[in-house]
Amino acid sequence: MQITDKFTGTEETNRQLAYIEKARGYVSQLADRIGRKPTCCVTTFGCQMNARDSEKLAGILEQTGYELISDEDADFVIYNTCTVRDNANQRVYGRLGHLNSLKKKNPHKKIALCGCMMQEPSVIEKIKKSYRFVDLIFGTHNIYKFAELLTAMFESEDMIIDIWEDTDEIVEDLPVERKYHFKSGINIMFGCNNFCSYCIVPYVRGRERSRNPEDIIREIKALVADGVVEIMLLGQNVNSYGKNLAQPMTFAQLLREIEKIDGLERIRFMTSHPKDLSDELIQVMKESKKICRHLHLPLQSGSTRILSAMNRRYTKEQYLALASKIRREIPDIAITTDIIVGFPGEEPCDVDETIDVVKKVQYDNAFTFIYSKRTGTPAAAMENQVPEELVKEGFDRLLKVVQDTARDRVALLQGQTLDALVEEVNEQDNRFLTGRLSNNTIVHFEGDPTLIGKIVPVYLKECHGFYYLGEAVKR
Ligand code: 5AD
Ligand code: SF4
Repeated sequence: MQITDKFTGTEETNRQLAYIEKARGYVSQLADRIGRKPTCCVTTFGCQMNARDSEKLAGILEQTGYELISDEDADFVIYNTCTVRDNANQRVYGRLGHLNSLKKKNPHKKIALCGCMMQEPSVIEKIKKSYRFVDLIFGTHNIYKFAELLTAMFESEDMIIDIWEDTDEIVEDLPVERKYHFKSGINIMFGCNNFCSYCIVPYVRGRERSRNPEDIIREIKALVADGVVEIMLLGQNVNSYGKNLAQPMTFAQLLREIEKIDGLERIRFMTSHPKDLSDELIQVMKESKKICRHLHLPLQSGSTRILSAMNRRYTKEQYLALASKIRREIPDIAITTDIIVGFPGEEPCDVDETIDVVKKVQYDNAFTFIYSKRTGTPAAAMENQVPEELVKEGFDRLLKVVQDTARDRVALLQGQTLDALVEEVNEQDNRFLTGRLSNNTIVHFEGDPTLIGKIVPVYLKECHGFYYLGEAVKR
């Protein structure tokens, strides 16, 4: 189902820039017809990778002459979808019905779908059959072709579908519209080679590909020149960064280079696979002035038997040893995690093992998920799927321990004064600002909106479970 061609490097960037110009012509014709600037809305489902991809889509839409709004009443709506768990898919189907009713009222409205869910053939079949009103569909591998596909959409009355099975292409230097002026995500690699047995990501995002360090550094320098102080390096498994480069380098080496960039104040990254987390990385984090005191280290399960069936390639003991080494070397670090409950064959005693790890590691936060069967993954074919009531029972038991330990961990900061990057005006009460500590904890405090984007010291006065109420402190 590949309709566009693969080209390489700068040549492809130039082709896409030319398509942006062409699309701009169509958007301007539309503006003449409707007597105003056409609007567009990019809706993101799923992870930080998708959020970053959405900024790229938004950048291109802005360049073609659309006005970005956050209302799905817009003249062009694109859903950047996720398929990591089935509930993400169901949400998309649910909301598409609403988009159709909006489209009936606005004859100029166009609807596009992209992202991970579109890489699944069964999804495309369903949309072709039951959601005929969608105008454009593309996947994860050809997102850089968005301008070209947008042009094709304007030139056709039919549904345009362009899904590639894979790519080894990384196209640089296309426009991006950032959500925040002071912080930004940056892809350092794409895809995943781990094939955890429950996970669909390697099938929909393809094989692991690292960006060249020069391109990453150049992008970060440009962002810093544009006012960015905090960056989040993004990859499914950042710890295996650089292995497939012509001149291999480690993630720790990349971090050392990024640390040197003047004006950059904070470095975050996600996600780290425990099996690949090196002593070199712990050392770099320990010595760094810029790398935030936060590590997201997905556990998935605390039972060695289940970990093996998950193809995670570490044992409970190895994970615990790693976590205690990290806590010993960097005592003020916050460790967060992802946990799945209800993987095939999981028994209450396996959940006990997971709870044991949570108690021992004392996570600052943990995202707990109910196992979702993803067609095509090895786990989906396993016979011993766990009954729903048993999953629910294990999930509730785990959640209670996760919440109690996280509350205790976060409370340890009470009374300290720590730097917070001010992110926004508090949604509930506009006298308050919301800031984020280096260890990712949120703090709300009274202050002036001109502080947004600045790093300021905040006294952590009252712990409210997962966040603090604080007071700004004069330096
Ligand atoms: N079911 C439930 N959770 C899953 N995750 C990935 N695949 C599945 C699945 N099939 C979770 C993992 C991963 C996070 C991003 O999503 O915990 O770390
Ligand atoms: Fe999925 Fe495992 Fe890759 Fe993470 S490391 S994206 S859980 S296969």
